[in-house]
Amino acid sequence: MGEQLNIALIGCGGMMGGHVNAYRELRAHGFDNFNIVACCDIRPEAAKAYADQIGEFQASKPAVYTSVEDLLSKQGDLMACDISVLHSEHHVVTAMCAEAGKHVTIEKPFSITMRAGKVMLDACTAAGVKIHVAENYRRALSERANKWAIKTGLIGEPWMIYWIDAGLRMWYWTWREHRMDAGAGWTLDGGVHFADMFRYHIGPVEEAFAVTRSFWPHRYEHADPLGGKIIDVDVEDCMIAILKFEGAPTVGQWTLTSSCHGEGFGKRAIYGSEGALDWGMGLQAGDASMDRQALEAAFLASLDEDTRELYFPRGIMDTVAQELKEFIDAVLYGTPMETDGLEGYKAEAICYAVYESAVTGKAVKTADVEALKVEEYQKDINEHLGLV
Ligand SMILES: NC(=O)c1ccc[n+]([C@@H]2O[C@H](COP(=O)([O-])OP(=O)(O)OC[C@H]3O[C@@H](n4cnc5c(N)ncnc54)[C@H](O)[C@@H]3O)[C@@H](O)[C@H]2O)c1
Repeated sequence: MGEQLNIALIGCGGMMGGHVNAYRELRAHGFDNFNIVACCDIRPEAAKAYADQIGEFQASKPAVYTSVEDLLSKQGDLMACDISVLHSEHHVVTAMCAEAGKHVTIEKPFSITMRAGKVMLDACTAAGVKIHVAENYRRALSERANKWAIKTGLIGEPWMIYWIDAGLRMWYWTWREHRMDAGAGWTLDGGVHFADMFRYHIGPVEEAFAVTRSFWPHRYEHADPLGGKIIDVDVEDCMIAILKFEGAPTVGQWTLTSSCHGEGFGKRAIYGSEGALDWGMGLQAGDASMDRQALEAAFLASLDEDTRELYFPRGIMDTVAQELKEFIDAVLYGTPMETDGLEGYKAEAICYAVYESAVTGKAVKTADVEALKVEEYQKDINEHLGLV
């Protein structure tokens, strides 16, 4: 067996289950250049459950830890950490791992605030370790095909993007509902995936003008059937924004809301000078029009062997497995990371330009958010976390 990256999983909750499955998938496809040496969670039963699962596909079962301090001081062979904790812990755990000389891949959103993100970037630079963001959405076959359609000019110059998700969710979604734990609501949590795709498909966003509302600042304790206690929440439940892209005429209308009683609706589409790309219908461009299946088939047929292997190694379609392989290879062999920490920071700046615009009532430039020149919305979170 060749060189292996010794990895610890930190934060063994819901999303880490996806990572464990992804590592299993990598193994099943013959990738054995990693070894999960430890699972760490403040809930010992959670860490143990994943250690048991990993023991089923790996020769050695990972050690179990209930604190990051213990993990870093006792697991002598550790080289890298895969972190999936709540947002308020991203910078704390990342900085600890970096200072101990461990490479880091961290779940999205990169950080709870931009200032926290800066702490993470600085800690990793100072320690000379890699920092990678686990951004998986852009790696899906459908998104790779969309990117190809845009890049090859099938819709001409992108003029307008509409990204509208309007529905109803009245149940309580744990720490995600609280600004001091999550930073913000869905525009940051799920929205950072979409912000990353705005950058991936079109390019940097220059500025945002937005309004947010918290129409019903409560949620029901139970989802199905809806009911139980009514719990107070303090993240937004409606966001409507206009985005201007950098160095291009492209404009975007971005709406995310979970407060629509009645029938919700959605539209995800880019309209260009010669056609449109619709997330549901596929490519609409006169004679070149293709439904989604045909578009993906045409994209796959266009790939040379190296690019196909880069996107879908040994045919793996699991986007989390793809991103983890990218991280492992980057640490072991110095190969490039498509979504490094800076990329995660810049995607997050689009979300925070939206929130900062909503509190200041002005259009906000992403560059000013990245440079920590506008922090009105984030101020109390930074103070609460001692980040001032
Ligand atoms: N890429 C995606 O599609 C996707 C999907 C869901 C969640 N996420 C992201 O994954 C991260 C985790 O979300 P989740 O849904 O798994 O949350 P979760 O609450 O299910 O899991 C978080 C885990 O971290 C543990 N934890 C908290 N503080 C800790 C600490 N200091 N040390 C060790 N363990 C600690 C908790 O006990 C819990 O088990 C978030 O950043 C979230 O935004 C990404």
